[in-house]
Amino acid sequence: MKRLLFVLAAAAASTAHAQQPAAAGDAMAAKPHISMCTGCHSIPGYQTSFPRVYHVPKIAGQSAGYIEAALRAYAKGERSHPTMTGIAKTLTDKQIADIAAYYAERGAASR
Ligand code: HEC
Repeated sequence: MKRLLFVLAAAAASTAHAQQPAAAGDAMAAKPHISMCTGCHSIPGYQTSFPRVYHVPKIAGQSAGYIEAALRAYAKGERSHPTMTGIAKTLTDKQIADIAAYYAERGAASR
């Protein structure tokens, strides 16, 4: 029961959040792309095991500018990681801004 209340409270909080205007990117527009990320970035303490063990950093709640800069750096090859480079290259500038806005709006409750 406690858990259900928490889930309801979290849902209410995120609905309230969604009504605030996004600064640059459009967080709602990012939703379809987020499914690509949650597999790795939504599991606390998760590590990928291929091609070697990487700690998956927490991105929810980081500033939009930080997330955007990181994704662009992967896309341009300034920063490299096999999976992140591959994913970042498939994203348009608009998608990167939208995803950055989405994760910046997520609090510490999720990753
Ligand atoms: C297969 C697992 C995986 C998937 C899927 C994935 N990531 Fe990552 N991500 C990682 C790992 C591992 C790192 C750390 C890589 C490194 O050390 O540079 C990372 C790093 C990042 C960083 C840099 C964070 C920092 O603090 O420096 C951002 C931003 C990021 N990912 C965003 C995303 C977004 C947005 C998506 C979906 C479009 C996504 N990732 C999908 C595994 C993943």
